[in-house]
Amino acid sequence: MAQTRPYYADRSLSAAHYDIVTAADARLTGDIDIYDGLAPAAGSVLELGAGAGRIALALAERGHPVVGVEIAPAMLAQAQAKRAAAEPQVAGRVEFRRGDMTALDLGQSFDLVLCPYFTLAHVPAGAAWRNTFAVMARHLAPGGLVAVHLPLLELMRQPGGPRPDLPVLDRPLEPGGRLLLYVRERLFREAVGRLDQVIEYVELDAKGGVVRRSLERLTYYCADPSPFAQGAGLEPDRAPIALGGVGEIHVFRRAAA
Ligand SMILES: C[S@@+](CC[C@H](N)C(=O)[O-])C[C@H]1O[C@@H](n2cnc3c(N)ncnc32)[C@H](O)[C@@H]1O
Repeated sequence: MAQTRPYYADRSLSAAHYDIVTAADARLTGDIDIYDGLAPAAGSVLELGAGAGRIALALAERGHPVVGVEIAPAMLAQAQAKRAAAEPQVAGRVEFRRGDMTALDLGQSFDLVLCPYFTLAHVPAGAAWRNTFAVMARHLAPGGLVAVHLPLLELMRQPGGPRPDLPVLDRPLEPGGRLLLYVRERLFREAVGRLDQVIEYVELDAKGGVVRRSLERLTYYCADPSPFAQGAGLEPDRAPIALGGVGEIHVFRRAAA
């Protein structure tokens, strides 16, 4: 197999081009409105896997105090740079910290704990999910909610997938170049609910010459989150909220004593 980098690693093109790729993903449209609607006005938010700050900064703009926790330095640096460039009132409401969502104790509680955009699917659906749900429950204020956005299992297990020789994304890059993305390999292992993909990022200059290319490994683990939530003392708050035809936001609250 060709040499690959983990997604969001230092010097990865998945981290460098995160905002371009995410902005092009119509399947996320509306997620910020949903999260905003789950928190009380000016209610506090903890975001696990805050990435480049897309959601945390938008929620801070809407008046929520937000703590965003992120494990990958290449993503955290982008979030922190955006915070530094934000309006002072917005910057004052948001804080980004390096941390691992599977083992976190901030000694603080929040009105809404988020694990957005398939972040939980980045870690194996066993002890890591159990620990992450325990982290969510530990940081939940009385009456607060947990929201976890996961990919649909039936889509992950579908055979086939995009043709490896055709780009799944083609976007302009400054100055005058293009960014192309290909899904070069895709394998779903039913027994462990694990989807392994190799995504190739290709940067072209204005004349179509290759500037950089990088093969990056994107793995998703999928399972029903309900038993993990229940194990952490959480229960479903409502039916999962469908998003973009590819995923669902599962909403939980603390189970009644
Ligand atoms: C798909 S991105 C989502 C970023 C952001 N929430 C958004 O919606 O734009 C997933 C993020 O989760 C981070 N992540 C993965 N495992 C993590 C862990 N154990 N603890 C904290 N962050 C993690 C990744 O580094 C990545 O930045």
